[in-house]
Amino acid sequence: MSKDKKESVIESSIKRKYKLQANDVKVWYDDFMAIKGISMDIKPNKVTAFIGPSGCGKSTFLRLFNRMNDYVDGFKMEGEINIDGSNINDKDINVELLRKQVGMVFQKPNPFPKSIFENVAYGLKIQGLKDKAFLEERVESSLKQVALWDEVKDDLNKSALALSGGQQQRLCIARTLAVEPSIILMDEPTSALDPISTAKIEELIYKLKDKYTIVIVTHNMQQASRISDNTAFFYLGELIEYDKTNKIFTNPEKEQTENYITGRFG
Ligand SMILES: Nc1ncnc2c1ncn2[C@@H]1O[C@H](COP(=O)(O)OP(=O)(O)O)[C@@H](O)[C@H]1O
Ligand SMILES: [Mg+2]
Repeated sequence: MSKDKKESVIESSIKRKYKLQANDVKVWYDDFMAIKGISMDIKPNKVTAFIGPSGCGKSTFLRLFNRMNDYVDGFKMEGEINIDGSNINDKDINVELLRKQVGMVFQKPNPFPKSIFENVAYGLKIQGLKDKAFLEERVESSLKQVALWDEVKDDLNKSALALSGGQQQRLCIARTLAVEPSIILMDEPTSALDPISTAKIEELIYKLKDKYTIVIVTHNMQQASRISDNTAFFYLGELIEYDKTNKIFTNPEKEQTENYITGRFG
């Protein structure tokens, strides 16, 4: 192997150690700078929590990883976002495939006004997959992964809108899993749910990291400390501190982090 080739192989294997990478990322909405130069590496098969006061850029930053900001008026970014070592803003990136690889779960459960079955099968059907046995099998395995199967297996043709909020959110996670992403972005996925549904989703997230890389924005400090491996504290468009969750919550380096986690502002 030539020296150059060897070096590029080494470089790409270093990059691949991290599932997601941001290099000096800056974001503007028109003239307003929402992200002020953030670099960060996110490890595979871990849960990474984004915390920080409202308006500090958590959602903006999260949405960069599946290019959900692309259609926002006035949005502009600089810097690089890499997934598995590839720059996802390159011209030849297929954004549909990217979003299949990087699924997203939102704050408010947003099932389609369709049956439970159709909700989970939706992403597969738009990919042109039609085989009934395959769809049935994938719907069942996805619903099992979110521990919803036993609750709905006799009602697959009922409207998803008839489910409780917590069930709807688990359904939305099942819909995301059905297309087999490797990364799941979650933006405050339990903030509209009751404590029992929240506990179920937390348990689920903890379990899912065996197969997926999960990034979760949360307002709830206890939630971040319960379910995440690493925590990133954002403030006014900057990444202030990023470390093992235990360290952030027991012995943070920065005063701003300490003030936030002890509830002095936010
Ligand atoms: N579509 C948008 N147009 C203009 N400004 C926006 C838009 N979305 C977010 N912002 C602004 O960018 C900043 C970061 O917002 P956001 O990423 O939603 O923060 P967080 O999720 O931490 O609450 C805020 O000041 C917000 O008002
Ligand atoms: Mg937000």
